Amino acid sequence: MNYLTLVNKEHKIKNNYFKYVELIETLDIDDEKVLIEKKTYNAYLDLKKYLISKNIEIGIDSSYRTLEEQQEIYDSFVIKYGKNYADKVVAPVGISEHHTGLAIDISIKKNGEFLIDNKDLIKEDKIFKEIHKNLSEFGFILRYPKGKEEITGYPYEPWHIRYVGEIPAKIIEKEGWTLEEYLNKFSKVLVVNKKKNMTSRDVVNEISHIFGIKKVGHTGTLDPLAEGVLVITIGEATKIAELLTASYKEYIAGVLLGIKTDTLDITGKVIDNKPVYDNLNIEEIIKSYKKTYLQEVPIYSAVKVNGKKLYEYARKGEKVELPKKEVTIKEIELLSTDRNEFMFKSTVSKGCYIRSLINDIGESLNTFATMTKLTRTKQGKFSLNDAYTLNDIKNNNYSLLSIEESLDYPVVELNEGLAHKVKNGVRIENTFNVEDKVIFKYQNDLLGIYQVDGNILKTWKNFK
Ligand code: DAL
Ligand code: ZN
Repeated sequence: MNYLTLVNKEHKIKNNYFKYVELIETLDIDDEKVLIEKKTYNAYLDLKKYLISKNIEIGIDSSYRTLEEQQEIYDSFVIKYGKNYADKVVAPVGISEHHTGLAIDISIKKNGEFLIDNKDLIKEDKIFKEIHKNLSEFGFILRYPKGKEEITGYPYEPWHIRYVGEIPAKIIEKEGWTLEEYLNKFSKVLVVNKKKNMTSRDVVNEISHIFGIKKVGHTGTLDPLAEGVLVITIGEATKIAELLTASYKEYIAGVLLGIKTDTLDITGKVIDNKPVYDNLNIEEIIKSYKKTYLQEVPIYSAVKVNGKKLYEYARKGEKVELPKKEVTIKEIELLSTDRNEFMFKSTVSKGCYIRSLINDIGESLNTFATMTKLTRTKQGKFSLNDAYTLNDIKNNNYSLLSIEESLDYPVVELNEGLAHKVKNGVRIENTFNVEDKVIFKYQNDLLGIYQVDGNILKTWKNFK
């Protein structure tokens, strides 16, 4: 179930939507049976209960509507208010948000009776203000706010609330957005603390679900065995992924000596073993790896040789020559030793495989070495201390970074003329003394990233 489903004049409800929505029955203000999506109903009950404590009583005027019901409402509005008004305020069949089961028109009780006429409801500004103030806390948004008619397609409706879930609702409220704007503009970087046994893809899928945004990516894969910093990009921020992976990464790794596995880590199949000699000078060997060297890419990796991924060769048992890549071990330090095991911390360049580094260290120690544990503690400027677990995020305990905050490039606010050029990807003069890249903004909107090309600046990425 997607709680961020968009239904408006450009987006008709999809036929298969009705297959996924779980509707339950309740009573409206006239004690007639109505249907409403299950989670939406529970959130509504919580909102209703809270408002009672503020001496406000709300009821359901309208919730889920079938296509036929929307037609009936339209017809009744034509009779009651005329076609002009009906066309303005009632959605055509198939594009009413009420088909989702996630929208409610609420009514207010005044002097013991629920108001049923829109013209009476619209006068209750003070009461609606109090209601609107608390919507996001319960996962609702005011769907047709004042001044956003151009975007939503409808005039202000203080009674029409829409369930989207608490996390999107809070963001939409904070930014002063409509649902359309949220789905279009929400672009952020989120530093996640990945737990073991999840793939990086699993994390991406979870984030996509929590925020209801389809375009989500990760920068620098962490295997299921690994945990720690996984930098996630959402919306337009997916375009800067390569800038976020380019930097150095810091890891803490665990090593077991004496065995070799096919995957070079403890999750693999043991394929060989060798005795481990006493009195090994692990510290000295470790220190000798603070260097730039040619590292063999592990067979269990997605690196392609002749158009085929290395792990595909491995799975089919086919022979392949493993490519070598230059890597730099910037820092390396032994943390602890315990018989045949040790832990170390290291800062490495992009493309360095810690499993391979461990394998190489094993060779230098005249035995085999296998990775038992891996935690990424830093990726560029993002460290584990600033990373949030999926549970933190679900509990609304997290913070997001803007594209500007996650990069270290200068940010320049342009004048109208230059903004127009940048929007159209036109090359401009480097009057800003940019050395590499620059982020251009215009009136709070991020336009794009430009990069130096000789004496001029040209587009690197443009944002929507
Ligand atoms: N009044 C809202 C726009 C609807 O008919 O769906
Ligand atoms: Zn409505």
